[in-house]
Amino acid sequence: MGENTIEIRNPCTESEIEAWGLFCGLRGFSHRPGAPDRFLARYKADPKATPSDLLIGYSSDGSIVSSLHLFSRTISLSPHVGGCEINLVGWGDVCCEPELRGKGVMGAVLREGVRRMESTPSREEDGLEGPAPLLAMLHCGPTVEGLYAKFGFSQGLPIPYARLFVGPWPSWAMDEGAPDPLPSQCTPCPTLEHGLSTAIRLVNFASDYEALNALRTEQVERCGVIGWTPRNREYWLQWVNNSCKGRAGVFISQGEIPRVIAYGYVRWRDGAYRVMDWANEKGFSEVSAKAFLQVLCQDAHRSDKSSPPPHHEPQSCNVAIPLPLAVDIFGKDKVTEAVDLCDNGWMVRALGELGNAPMDNLKLAAEASRFIIFQADNF
Ligand SMILES: CC(C)(COP(=O)(O)OP(=O)(O)OC[C@H]1O[C@@H](n2cnc3c(N)ncnc32)[C@H](O)[C@@H]1OP(=O)(O)O)[C@@H](O)C(=O)NCCC(=O)NCCS
Repeated sequence: MGENTIEIRNPCTESEIEAWGLFCGLRGFSHRPGAPDRFLARYKADPKATPSDLLIGYSSDGSIVSSLHLFSRTISLSPHVGGCEINLVGWGDVCCEPELRGKGVMGAVLREGVRRMESTPSREEDGLEGPAPLLAMLHCGPTVEGLYAKFGFSQGLPIPYARLFVGPWPSWAMDEGAPDPLPSQCTPCPTLEHGLSTAIRLVNFASDYEALNALRTEQVERCGVIGWTPRNREYWLQWVNNSCKGRAGVFISQGEIPRVIAYGYVRWRDGAYRVMDWANEKGFSEVSAKAFLQVLCQDAHRSDKSSPPPHHEPQSCNVAIPLPLAVDIFGKDKVTEAVDLCDNGWMVRALGELGNAPMDNLKLAAEASRFIIFQADNF
């Protein structure tokens, strides 16, 4: 099949959007584990998503042969590197029908994606707010970097994870048949914080939103982190339901008025726990941090039924948060920088002439802080 026989367009109906989601899950990414409807669920959970985000290649018989998801995101730079927010276009869900790979099918869709990004006359026309995007950005593995390089993307900024050593893990923590470690009702946690008893439960967006936001803002300022994705209400909603798949937890101090004093989300991946996100009040004790982490880790492991059983011996834990935050939370001695865990997968592409300005800013920011983190916000 040549690219001339492919029609590239946005989906027109709900059922075409659903067909796109299933195509990605069942065909395009059939080699990756996960629920077939996960692409659709993520699309639906994104408050900014519109059908014009989806560029779909259709063959002459109307079946879907390729997908590109272009979505709008915003990153913020701290005052000493520009102090501005930059809108960007994220690229994701890039895939082609397995039987048609290597025939230029995807290339045609990617070319159309570049054309659309570069010719967007005004965001208002698309019903979008804010200035036009200056950057396109994506996250990929090393085997497809060459593909994106053909479309003007270059390697972005490596983001070092911290490797956190915890343990030994008590074997009871992983016993089968123990109660659900993170119920939506508060469960007492065997630790004292500020002299008060404490409890843990799943995040409830409506009641926890303000506490999550306050904890995050305070921690980012305290640790001098730059380059964070601004977190507005929409972001948090998506974080709770989509990024964390409803499994983020909060740590509560049970005074007369119970108060959320930490939140966290942990994933089990590649044989290690990964703290994807975490914030706590100043003065949060190490004992509490460890108790909270254990509950989150148990939960992470149970939610991923396909994973191999965890070791009960001392475990390392990759922390996908910047090193200063990790040091602040867990203490210097428990955190080491692990260069081998660097995430080199981010690729960026300037859009138009203005694109060079934020690229310079991004590089400055990276040098100043040694990392700049783009939360894996629907990428
Ligand atoms: C990656 C993928 C989308 C490529 O689709 P495809 O239809 O085979 O790509 P095309 O044949 O249209 O290739 C377009 C161009 O990119 C090049 N290319 C394709 N895959 C490449 C790769 N892995 N590395 C370097 N270049 C690549 C092709 O040689 C071609 O170059 P040309 O235009 O100069 O001839 C497809 O293999 C796929 O669906 N893989 C599974 C999903 C996936 O991993 N997606 C990437 C997620 S980040």
